[in-house]
Amino acid sequence: MSARVSGIDAMAFHGTQYYLEMADLAAARGVDPDKYILGLGQRQMAVATPCEDTVTMATVAAHRALERFDIDPGEIGTLIVGTETGVDHSKPVAVYVHDMLGLAPNCRTFETKHACYGAMAGLTSAMDWISAGRARGRKALIVASDIARYGLNTAGEPTQGAGAVAMVVSEKPRLLELDPTSFGDYTRQVMDFWRPLYSKYAFADGHYSIDCYLDAFSGAWRDACENAGSWDPLRLDRLAACFYHVPFTKMARKAHHRHCETEWGKKVEREDTEQVAAIRESYDQQVAPWLELNSVVGNIYTGSLFLALMDYLRKAQPAGGERVSVFSYGSGCGAAFGTGVVTPEAAGLAERLDPATHLEQRRKLDMDRYEELIRLSETADHNEAPYPDPADWQLDRGLYFVGTRDHVRQYAGSAADTP
Ligand SMILES: CC(C)(COP(=O)(O)OP(=O)(O)OC[C@H]1O[C@@H](n2cnc3c(N)ncnc32)[C@H](O)[C@@H]1OP(=O)(O)O)[C@@H](O)C(=O)NCCC(=O)NCCS
Repeated sequence: MSARVSGIDAMAFHGTQYYLEMADLAAARGVDPDKYILGLGQRQMAVATPCEDTVTMATVAAHRALERFDIDPGEIGTLIVGTETGVDHSKPVAVYVHDMLGLAPNCRTFETKHACYGAMAGLTSAMDWISAGRARGRKALIVASDIARYGLNTAGEPTQGAGAVAMVVSEKPRLLELDPTSFGDYTRQVMDFWRPLYSKYAFADGHYSIDCYLDAFSGAWRDACENAGSWDPLRLDRLAACFYHVPFTKMARKAHHRHCETEWGKKVEREDTEQVAAIRESYDQQVAPWLELNSVVGNIYTGSLFLALMDYLRKAQPAGGERVSVFSYGSGCGAAFGTGVVTPEAAGLAERLDPATHLEQRRKLDMDRYEELIRLSETADHNEAPYPDPADWQLDRGLYFVGTRDHVRQYAGSAADTP
């Protein structure tokens, strides 16, 4: 570990108030429900109303992280929002969040965009900021906030979702100490997923995007080994858990397979029964138990990797000292692999970051309401559109987007009141 370490001190999740059952989506699309539930590994999908956007979800998640971990907004010296779903070509989501949280004027604030990699870029920037000695005891707030939109009747429709994960990074982390010597990067120009400025919906070459993701894993892992000086500290048998970017939970299974292959320097085919069994055993222990939140929230792009980490931290009751890996993939593409060590305090803080209560309060959509909602969201932020009213969606308390007036986005309510 380097002299000036840093890591994750606090975390919180905020999702949408509504969700769709994947079985209902499958029935409506004439697809065997097992394709979505077993084939993709998704049970439910969070769906945003027109009143919930990247700003409201980011702000509520960030407010929750500060409040639950007793962090004063004045302690935050850097705020980075990683998002694919920015609300303006110019103005960053982060500056709205800065205002709504009441952060200090000398807090360095910006937005990062690189498909699903934006929050990891923010996290590593925060590590560098602390390591360079610029934090002066202050903390960084990194928020991943996204609404994954592929549109109705598309191949990507079952891999949608929405939500935000906020993380506070500090020199004395209470949850996970990040090991900067174990991080590696990968970049390559590929057209696997993109969203032109004129489109609310992503375009994806879905199967190609899976191949790009897996190649990026191998590239980032090899770079991490080079930076670490050897692959020994990154060895799978030294990792208590492995967290991957999770657009759908089956992707984590594919990523883990590639993780094993890359470490072993060997492609594993179906007929290699011994190795297949070893991968399965390792997946069942190190990956599968921590995909529960992802399976009921769906794809939250930049935050999905960190949602898996939250699932581990709320359930695993680690003793402290466990090394875990994180892999982020952003289409286009950019990726990073790294590791961190769980702190001895983490288990005692599990309840503070558990989003179960919030998820249990969500309301189920039927297909008509879901389709209406997706269509409304296409134009809800247009200047001439009717203003979205939280009451139409029985959203009585909380922070909500209420339309664009004179080309300026309007918000009502407060993050502190959001259930
Ligand atoms: C992920 C995506 C490519 C799947 O597309 P698709 O062509 O509709 O689905 P597939 O035919 O590949 O089926 C998906 C899985 O379900 C399985 N499946 C299909 N029918 C099934 C059934 N009835 N029962 C169980 N499993 C089933 C398939 O075998 C496949 O699993 P595998 O990949 O392990 O072989 C598509 O949803 C997409 O484009 N998503 C957006 C892009 C994305 O998420 N990319 C990820 C990397 S960033």
